[in-house]
Amino acid sequence: MLIDTHAHLQWASFNKDREKVIERAREAGVKRIVNIGFDIKGSQSAVRQAESHMGLYATVGVHPHNASQLGSVALNELKKLAESSKVVAIGEIGLDYYRDLSPRDVQRRAFEAQLSLAEELDLPVVVHNREAHTETLNALSDFRGRGEIIMHCFSGSSGKAEEYIGLGFYLSFAGTVTFPNAHSLRETVARVDLGRMLIETDSPWLAPQRVRGRRNEPAFLPFIAEEIAKLKGISIDELAKATTENANEVFQLGDTSRS
Ligand code: NI
Repeated sequence: MLIDTHAHLQWASFNKDREKVIERAREAGVKRIVNIGFDIKGSQSAVRQAESHMGLYATVGVHPHNASQLGSVALNELKKLAESSKVVAIGEIGLDYYRDLSPRDVQRRAFEAQLSLAEELDLPVVVHNREAHTETLNALSDFRGRGEIIMHCFSGSSGKAEEYIGLGFYLSFAGTVTFPNAHSLRETVARVDLGRMLIETDSPWLAPQRVRGRRNEPAFLPFIAEEIAKLKGISIDELAKATTENANEVFQLGDTSRS
């Protein structure tokens, strides 16, 4: 059994065959999927989909690209959505200084407001960080120790990985690890503590090498797991067991009544 800790099944590219996508994931051994919010509408549909599917969970949050959307009305809506028992984290939230689709001060305010919300609701956070390492860590320093922190689609050096793990974060790895030129990322993966590792597809984006260029979907998670197991010199079963335990623990999915 594998858990895809980061997918966006609410994205329009799944509108025609979402049920089949979920079914294919199950057949591929991906029994649980965390459907990640990125704006208000996307959070609403993530929750709705999670509530109507076994094994599907949701996070609610406003991505840094959409940070300008996060006023007090939106923040209240996130809080209301988080009342669903299927909501397992606040995310994805963070800072993106690479694409800068929202002004940086707006991104920082939205990030901080949502960290406070996670703290208030006692939920973990799924963090998006692109070229904003120092500021992301600054914002997270007040949150540390309040709830678990998951760094989504980690692609940094093994030094950064060590630093984050030292701070108690979980690192989630995506299909980028299978790309031919991802030499340093593969070195990082080989060294990362299995006890702090999660795996994700980030569907519909970042399809792993074997299906690159196509729409990504949770059923492709085994390609990523396979590559990571190889890099760590363990069996895919060992990797599946460890990452599944980590995901169940960090998102508290253990209670089968919620599945
Ligand atoms: Ni994402």
